[in-house]
Amino acid sequence: LTPKDLAGEHLLVTAGPTQEEIDPVRFVSNHSSGKMGYAIARAARRRGAEVTLVSGPTCLDAPWGVETVRVASAVEMRAAVMAALPAATVVIKAAAVADYRPVVRAAGKIKKNADSLVIELEKNPDILAELGGIKGDRLLVGFAAETADLLENARKKLVAKNVDMMVANDVSLEGAGFHGDTNIARLLYRDGASEELPLMTKDDMAALILGRVAELRKKTG
Ligand code: C5P
Repeated sequence: LTPKDLAGEHLLVTAGPTQEEIDPVRFVSNHSSGKMGYAIARAARRRGAEVTLVSGPTCLDAPWGVETVRVASAVEMRAAVMAALPAATVVIKAAAVADYRPVVRAAGKIKKNADSLVIELEKNPDILAELGGIKGDRLLVGFAAETADLLENARKKLVAKNVDMMVANDVSLEGAGFHGDTNIARLLYRDGASEELPLMTKDDMAALILGRVAELRKKTG
């Protein structure tokens, strides 16, 4: 039996990669599948929450009962997140937002005339950091995918982006990260505590994360 421990909460979940267009047929992106964020959105709905899912391009079906907003670029994701924010009590940012986007999007397909090609990139808005500044009493959960110095980097991001809980992923480990149906992570909290989540399915990990979210909301909310 699923506990309805998120009844009365409105979760805003982001998932998937973003795509940053180079020209009408090409983009810069990453390997995110969206599976972790979709698992969280599905599980939150089952636990009684209202859920808005802002999703980058994935091949996953919109979860039943979840308001799903599809976006492509980081700039579009930011706009959709800000539009959904007022109603949200909890924000979980599982999306792998592209850090950079091309400075110019060519109007036509770039032809392969030159022997080399330089594409200049500029920084995307950091949606999570922005949310950290305006979150009010909402609970904010971030994800940190790293390939080195996992805990140190994740702890830094927790502080810098003012999040309440960070899900730290070493995406170089077998069984963790972008493509598969399993994950390995560590949950970091503001008070310095942390918790190891061993290899498990993304559905089980979603349940565990949401259990902690429900507990934190009871404490503060
Ligand atoms: O890219 P980074 O490792 O800093 O991502 C950590 C967290 O910040 C993730 O939860 C991600 O969704 C969020 N993020 C964001 N906007 C960005 C980059 C990251 O919201 N431009």
